[in-house]
Amino acid sequence: MMANGFPLKNCRAVITGASSGLGAEFARQLAPQAASLVLVARRADALEAVKHELSGFPAEIFCCVADLATDAGRNSLLAFLDGHDLKPNLLINNAGMGDYGSFTSSTAEKTRTQIELNITALTMLTHAVLPRMERPGGVLNVSSLASTLPMPDLAVYAASKAYVTSFSESLAVELAPQNITVTCVCPGPTPTNFSKTAKREDGTDTNREGQGLLRIPPQRVVAVALAALQRGCPCVFPGAGVAIAARLFRVMPRGLMRALLRWRHGKE
Ligand SMILES: NC(=O)c1ccc[n+]([C@@H]2O[C@H](COP(=O)([O-])OP(=O)(O)OC[C@H]3O[C@@H](n4cnc5c(N)ncnc54)[C@H](OP(=O)(O)O)[C@@H]3O)[C@@H](O)[C@H]2O)c1
Repeated sequence: MMANGFPLKNCRAVITGASSGLGAEFARQLAPQAASLVLVARRADALEAVKHELSGFPAEIFCCVADLATDAGRNSLLAFLDGHDLKPNLLINNAGMGDYGSFTSSTAEKTRTQIELNITALTMLTHAVLPRMERPGGVLNVSSLASTLPMPDLAVYAASKAYVTSFSESLAVELAPQNITVTCVCPGPTPTNFSKTAKREDGTDTNREGQGLLRIPPQRVVAVALAALQRGCPCVFPGAGVAIAARLFRVMPRGLMRALLRWRHGKE
């Protein structure tokens, strides 16, 4: 059974990672139609700037400063919702980060933070918010094209997004009978602060050959994601190039995939 889709009109949304990039864009596109938005991230000034930008819209906007890579930060968001008697009917799990470079040279701290943010926060916030969620409800998880293939030099990130896509597709089936729509959006390369955060302090970058063919603006990624949520579509790949690449990666024989990854990695 597929969910009927989530109606955005008058929604009460929580958006994680709303201080920049895709999260801020989700806030911009929802503000004209939402009843309330809770913007969550670590940087208070950046959250306030997004709130200020949206002050002309009727939606009531709250900023919640929280480090979602920690239990304390996740609990403080839940306490914020309870303290303001906010009963969201839409959770957008968008906060996420990557780390460019080899696994062995990564720091334990950045690796742990990626897992905490990309996997644990997304899972545990969903687990905590679902019982508070009014129906019809929606969960929109931001995964990545990286969820469809292993990525040497971005290994933990790609694996974490494979988790997000798989988890979301399972939940979409589990929650449809409860009138909760779960959609997973898998963007390709999108110009945001993502690369700045993923680069290492020593400047270590990753091989971005071919990304230009797949790049689409954050406005389009978010519009496609929200349209998919409204339709009840469980998984969407914004942009024709990204959709074709995802299909190709999913049907490609694993042996051929490994050979291509070795060839590409060897060129660096
Ligand atoms: N851009 C791409 O090419 C691309 C492609 C596929 C998927 N994605 C996914 O899209 C999502 C959004 O990323 P983006 O591209 O918009 O990058 P971005 O501009 O770097 O935004 C990341 C957001 O997450 C927040 N964040 C980071 N660490 C946090 C923490 N510990 N606690 C709470 N919030 C935290 C950041 O805010 P603060 O720094 O203020 O905390 C920021 O608002 C991520 O899940 C990413 O994996 C991006």
